[in-house]
Amino acid sequence: MRIDILTVVPELLTSPLNESILHRAQEKGLVQIVVHNLHDYAHDRRKTTDDYPFGGEAGMVLKCEPVFELIEKLQSERHYDEIIYTSPDGVRYDQHEANRLSTLDNIIILCGHYKGIDHRIREHLVTREISIGDYVLTGGELAACIIADSVVRIIPGAIGDEASALTDSFQDNLLAPPVYTRPAEFRGWRVPDVLLSGNFAQIARWQEEQSYQRTRQLRPDLLNEE
Ligand code: ADE
Repeated sequence: MRIDILTVVPELLTSPLNESILHRAQEKGLVQIVVHNLHDYAHDRRKTTDDYPFGGEAGMVLKCEPVFELIEKLQSERHYDEIIYTSPDGVRYDQHEANRLSTLDNIIILCGHYKGIDHRIREHLVTREISIGDYVLTGGELAACIIADSVVRIIPGAIGDEASALTDSFQDNLLAPPVYTRPAEFRGWRVPDVLLSGNFAQIARWQEEQSYQRTRQLRPDLLNEE
């Protein structure tokens, strides 16, 4: 899979995309993540990527020219399955969407920008608008990191323990069960006996019950019981 991320602040993406699981997934060749600086596609002396909005509102708007030039260059090199724009107006991001994106070959993520982007980019280039939640960030870079992180970690082979991505919270609309590690007793608080029993059928049953209980208690909306 290849993920191209387009931004005016590439520095914001450097560390989240180049550590830990995302770093290893790239090293293993499971994914190629390419960050593009939109300023490189602005051709005036000051490398301007934004301009004042028509109509006189406050804030700056990302211009068409650098975005069209870069995306059309990328599209001349390969087919893109989705051109995503990160915006609070978009469809709410969830695990189903992460799963779907992880099956695609090539995606572009265009990071949103302060006041917005010229609407012609949304009309004529973008194929999907994604919001990571009902709140407003200063830009779309953190949202792009969240999308890339959640997509890459479920690519087969990205996580050491293949099974663990499938037992994540949300993978079956349930929250994950509690987990414990050594010591079996800490400050008098014991790990549930069943986990020390070695009886894997019983452990699996306990984990399933815990998942349901926690989901009912914390996120009943996931069970449609609200
Ligand atoms: N840009 C600003 N706020 C955002 C949000 N909630 N989701 C995605 N992109 C954004």
